[in-house]
Amino acid sequence: MSNGGQRTFGPLGTTLVIIPTYNEAENIGRIVGRVREAVPAAHVLVADDNSPDGTGKLADELAAEDDHVHVLHRKGKEGLGAAYLAGFAWGLEHGYGVLVEMDADGSHQPEELPRLLTALSGADLVLGSRWVPGGRVVNWPKSREFLSRGGSTYSRLMLDVPIRDVTGGFRAFRRETLEGLGLDEVASAGYCFQVDLARRAVRKGFRVVEVPITFVERELGDSKMSKDIVIEALWRVTQWGLGERVAKLTGRRTS
Ligand code: GDD
Ligand code: MN
Repeated sequence: MSNGGQRTFGPLGTTLVIIPTYNEAENIGRIVGRVREAVPAAHVLVADDNSPDGTGKLADELAAEDDHVHVLHRKGKEGLGAAYLAGFAWGLEHGYGVLVEMDADGSHQPEELPRLLTALSGADLVLGSRWVPGGRVVNWPKSREFLSRGGSTYSRLMLDVPIRDVTGGFRAFRRETLEGLGLDEVASAGYCFQVDLARRAVRKGFRVVEVPITFVERELGDSKMSKDIVIEALWRVTQWGLGERVAKLTGRRTS
């Protein structure tokens, strides 16, 4: 996770907090308000997949009242990964220097964002982490904790990335990091999108730092986690891991 200890990092530009939403009408007002309060200089982009519950319309109302709030309306539910890719493209195009990923449901606490941004002044990518000392999860069923810890451990070993929380979704990127990740080639639709980006960042030699967070399970609305999302993640992580092993072996034979 290093690039030599001696790198200097440029100043951080304006922050854009990207919040993907699908049926988060009960949560969107509160989360946007908390972000605006916790980091007043930051802008917010809600990336809504045409939520049937009217989240997009509520976001439009917030944007009409506040010039730091923006909305990206997408045509339908295409997964977290696709929503983030569209959000990143929008943010890079509009000149933001820092792009943040954050859930709408309050699991990622905006009040912890300043700590992530402070860490980013000496890193290329900061991961909010549940599974480093000081990190924790509140109100998660044991089954969900098992899935998340298991998914992180499997990914870490399979992909050989020195990260404890590989699937987490509370992250801060410098724009140069995103520009260097090869986002055009990212096909992951579901939550394995997070694993995909972490793996790419490590491979490219970016300095990735984990900062402990307290993840609070949502009180309102429903998780979009599904069997399909787990299957996609398992399948892709296994494919990436085996692919890299084969490449290493054949590389060794021909050299
Ligand atoms: N636009 C859009 N489209 N947003 C989506 C979609 C989608 O298809 N699916 C989920 N979201 C949004 C939700 O509305 C929410 O704001 C955020 O993405 C996270 O979704 P949740 O359904 O609340 O995720 P979770 O709590 O089960 O999962 C958490 O843990 C995962 C595994 O560690 C999240 O933090 C994930 O980011 C993380 O990968
Ligand atoms: Mn959630």
